[in-house]
Amino acid sequence: MAARGHFSNRLGFILAAAGSAVGLGNIWKFPFEVEKGGGAAFVVLYLIFCFALCFPVMVTEIAIGRKTEKNPAGAFVALGFPKWKYLGILGIISGIIILSFYNVVAGWAFGYFIEMAQGNFEIGNQFGDFITNIWKISLYAILFMGATALIVSKGISGGIERAAKILMPSLILMILGILLYSFTLPNAMTGIKYYLIPEFSELNLATIGGALRQAFFSLSLGMGALITYGSYFSKDENIIASAASITLFDVGIAFFAGLMLFPLVSYSTGGDMSNIQGGAGLIFTVLPGVFQSLGPILGIVLGSLFFLLLSFAALTSTVSLLEVPVAYIVDEYKANRNTAVIIMAVIIFVTGIPSLIGNGYSEIFTNFVTYVGADHPTDFMTFLGQVADIFLLFGGCLIVTFAAYVWKKENLHAEIAQGYEGYHQSFVKKFINITVSYVCPVLLGLLFVLVI
Ligand code: PHE
Repeated sequence: MAARGHFSNRLGFILAAAGSAVGLGNIWKFPFEVEKGGGAAFVVLYLIFCFALCFPVMVTEIAIGRKTEKNPAGAFVALGFPKWKYLGILGIISGIIILSFYNVVAGWAFGYFIEMAQGNFEIGNQFGDFITNIWKISLYAILFMGATALIVSKGISGGIERAAKILMPSLILMILGILLYSFTLPNAMTGIKYYLIPEFSELNLATIGGALRQAFFSLSLGMGALITYGSYFSKDENIIASAASITLFDVGIAFFAGLMLFPLVSYSTGGDMSNIQGGAGLIFTVLPGVFQSLGPILGIVLGSLFFLLLSFAALTSTVSLLEVPVAYIVDEYKANRNTAVIIMAVIIFVTGIPSLIGNGYSEIFTNFVTYVGADHPTDFMTFLGQVADIFLLFGGCLIVTFAAYVWKKENLHAEIAQGYEGYHQSFVKKFINITVSYVCPVLLGLLFVLVI
């Protein structure tokens, strides 16, 4: 059997993992979650969750992966706890679910790139028609899954790492470019204030739950994506420093994406933020009009750049989502990598069909939850998103419980200490020790609240 792949160095690992983290969650979802959750108050909460609850989960996932050099299911077996492999399998299933609908939205983003490049700004008013144009969006979804599969088939350093090294820096440049430009637009300040001044009165249980779910999803935690990436990470590297970089990267990009977006929105509404059309359609409905008003040339350039950026961000995430089940099949069934990639890509695409047609085309999947029995119409994709969010929290919670009480903290610390001289004397060790022991109960409590 061919040797297992490896990231070539720490930077490669960080960029690939940050690529997994940075995605539609940051640029498409974060801004409207902020808008829903009371602006900066939500941001503050989100930051606390990222560093106090999510960071220890991330460190734990990477440590388990690196120690065992296995996929999420195989990792638990390799540590000597075969029954826990079902936790890994739950993670793999979560990844399949997420990729099935994520790829659909990624396809929209890519489709918008094509439309913008042709100067079709009207698309913003025709979003509803666009997402029910089944042949078109299927084609985009197939293309997107194809690109993902191609990268994953090239392996770790030659595929995933290389793509991240090109896509991530381009993404940062594009965001900075659009951000600087958006600051020069009329009414930009109104948007920035709206984004950054906290309304603590809007904080409630739902927002707190929202911030927690967003943090887990955005950092790609709880499903073993980082166990998998960690399994390709060198033993000489520092896990803590890497996890800190990934977290900062992700939080930073989400923050800047909001900073770039809200001035565009306030510009388009003439500074009236009272009834901005938030929600899932925000960037797809509002932005094309904004780009149009910048004139044909600048509009085409910035418009296509924006949706290209969104596609790039999504691509490094879809790659990590596909890698998880692929690693599982390659490790456990000794399958050839290409075969595993093709099988998984097809299965996941098919799983995504209800999400693809559930936005107005198919009545059943558009009002899915109503059919299931509840009285509020929710489309299939939104429903899957909620299921996945719960799975991620639940998975993350069990992963730390496992590390702290089953595998045992000494073993976790020993793995972290590899590549981190002085870890045992450090403050970080105390932090990890306390959080790993208590994150889980806290998470469980919040999860419980969230479910009711
Ligand atoms: N973190 C990605 C995003 O924010 C989504 C993702 C979730 C990717 C879970 C991998 C695993 O878009």
